[in-house]
Amino acid sequence: MKSRPRKQPPREATRSEKLWGGRFTRGADPLAERFTGSLAFDRRLWPHDVRGSVAWAKALAKAGLLSAAERDAIVKGLDVVRAELAAGTFPFRTELEDIHTNVERRLQELIGEVGGKLHTGRSRNDQIAVDERLYLREMVAEVRAGLRRTQEALVTRAAEAVDTPLPGYTHLQRAQPVVLGHHLLAYVFMLQRDCDRFGDCGARADTLPLGAAALAGTAFPIDLEALAKDLGFAEVSPNSLDAVSDRDTLLEFLAAAAITGMHLSRLAADLTLWATAEFGFVEFSDAFATGSSIMPQKKNPDVAELIRGKSGRLYGNLVAVLAMMKGLPLAYNSDMQEDKEPFFDSVDTLEAILAVVPPMIESLTFRTDRMRRAAGENFATATDLADYLVKKGVAFRHAHGLVGKIVRFCETEGKALDGLSLVELRRFSPLFQDDAKDALTVEASLRARAATGGTAPEAVRRSLALARTLIARA
Ligand code: ARG
Repeated sequence: MKSRPRKQPPREATRSEKLWGGRFTRGADPLAERFTGSLAFDRRLWPHDVRGSVAWAKALAKAGLLSAAERDAIVKGLDVVRAELAAGTFPFRTELEDIHTNVERRLQELIGEVGGKLHTGRSRNDQIAVDERLYLREMVAEVRAGLRRTQEALVTRAAEAVDTPLPGYTHLQRAQPVVLGHHLLAYVFMLQRDCDRFGDCGARADTLPLGAAALAGTAFPIDLEALAKDLGFAEVSPNSLDAVSDRDTLLEFLAAAAITGMHLSRLAADLTLWATAEFGFVEFSDAFATGSSIMPQKKNPDVAELIRGKSGRLYGNLVAVLAMMKGLPLAYNSDMQEDKEPFFDSVDTLEAILAVVPPMIESLTFRTDRMRRAAGENFATATDLADYLVKKGVAFRHAHGLVGKIVRFCETEGKALDGLSLVELRRFSPLFQDDAKDALTVEASLRARAATGGTAPEAVRRSLALARTLIARA
């Protein structure tokens, strides 16, 4: 038997390597160390952690707490740390709890004792708060760009389909004709609100938490206003307890992600339904579908199904952080370390969804012939017949009743509404004239709905123009 090299157990952090070694008589149990460590997930915050530290070092120097030479040594050292992290050569040490400790210890390795001055007047509590905020603002911009791309794809397809009749549904029963462009634009406006929600969340993240230190505020005369400016924040948090103990900005992001996921899930559900043999309104490109391992004929809309499915984790992540935060006494509590994995998972999930939706939409084939045919079936223009009578002076409620009877008559006779003769129609009301049949066409039904927000091609063109303006404004 070959002997395998024995797996090295992970190195434990020595007492002096911990950030708090002084007070402790022995090192942490490796189990406790592994349990409390967050490096596995918070390492993705390194660009923001280093950025915050560089700004903090400069602020310390301005306050006279670092000499110019010390500041330069720290900033240069952090430059090296950043370069190592970017190149993937940074010697991560899992036994050092988190990204903050890893960066600080590496800085000390690189520049010696003076590296130990960096943490003057701050805490990991305000450090993580500022890291998360810087990261969140970047993610807000990325998500908004993804939403824009999705809107553009939808607008392009909507523009091709302003005159394409489609059955509109309520209760998943055929209701009234709409145009396909109108249906697609509905999602564009939903996504516009999502985009605004992310924007609002980003705007509320415009407050600097650094300077709050552990909870009570920094004890050094740091020019926090200047530091805020340096890091791109509009203002300094007016309350240090709030600054380190709140996660509502992050929760807003998670809520906006959950709502966006819900919208895209509904789009995916529409398309999945439309792709069935029963509907037959759309065909997915082979590039955005998969086959079956057993049934050779199958083409499954997996991409759309997973867009729908992944909205579940977006909700779960929101609820996880809400539940984790509930009932936490002020100020910082370690529970809050549990905000990161759900947050990052929502970022990754949403970005994955937003990457796949635009090309999936671009590659759809709409079966407009089938939509058009279906749009006129199942008495879809019955409301228009009632409206016809209303225009002749009949009260709508009465007209509704009359047309209901006409529909019942059609059903027993096996006829469509437009298959009725004028004589037959006049049996129900003498107000019906030759033009009654014109009111029953899909085109007339669509054309009638020209008020703002309606499905008349003319109104849809106006909404399309509005959508384009909104998208371009971002
Ligand atoms: N890893 C911590 C977090 O994610 C950073 C702040 C730690 N502060 C502390 N006192 N343990 O929340």
